[in-house]
Amino acid sequence: MKINNVHLIISAVNAKHYPQHDLPEVLLLGRSNVGKSSFINTMINRKALARTSSQPGKTRTINFYNVEDLFCFVDMPGYGYAKVSREERKDFKRMIEEYIKKRENLTIVIHLIDFRHEPTADDIEVHNWLRKMDITPIVVATKIDKVKNNDYRKNIKQIVQAFDLEDPEDIILFSSTAKRGKEELMGILDEIFLD
Ligand code: GTP
Ligand code: MG
Repeated sequence: MKINNVHLIISAVNAKHYPQHDLPEVLLLGRSNVGKSSFINTMINRKALARTSSQPGKTRTINFYNVEDLFCFVDMPGYGYAKVSREERKDFKRMIEEYIKKRENLTIVIHLIDFRHEPTADDIEVHNWLRKMDITPIVVATKIDKVKNNDYRKNIKQIVQAFDLEDPEDIILFSSTAKRGKEELMGILDEIFLD
């Protein structure tokens, strides 16, 4: 799919503000700073439509981006970062849980993991929680540009073990900086939304 037209529909903090539409939604989920907003910018060929920052806790609302009137990317606050205040972490957790539990438009969850490190206890908790709700997320390992080729196999194995995945090939290696993994993901979205 060629993406030319994307716009922010609304920034929401609770279900009352979610847009009323029939578009399927693709949720970006992951720790603060893992690269959720950067992921969206990369996929839609925009430098900074979704705001990013080197400081964790940048995205504070649920942002709905209409992509070609075909689907929505939903950007979320992150979870689990100690530098984000306890109060805010609680707010963010509530927003994430409310969206996932209530939103009928939710079609795909993309769970972003930082490829430089082992999945954290938070990552594992979130992954298991999704599975319990019968959601199988697409696991995307980000910031692969920061990892030496020699470490790829070891890091992939760590994710497979942490999440108890069946097939290491299911993990998509991604870099917003190096634009890696974009075509593979676009292929998956094409299959789901263009058929
Ligand atoms: P919150 O909104 O705080 O939850 O963070 P986020 O997950 O949206 O992360 P964001 O996209 O704001 O990126 C955080 C930082 O990581 C920024 O400084 C980005 O430039 C950087 N970053 C994101 N993706 C990559 C990547 O693939 N490679 C590298 N090297 N840096 C990245
Ligand atoms: Mg963000």
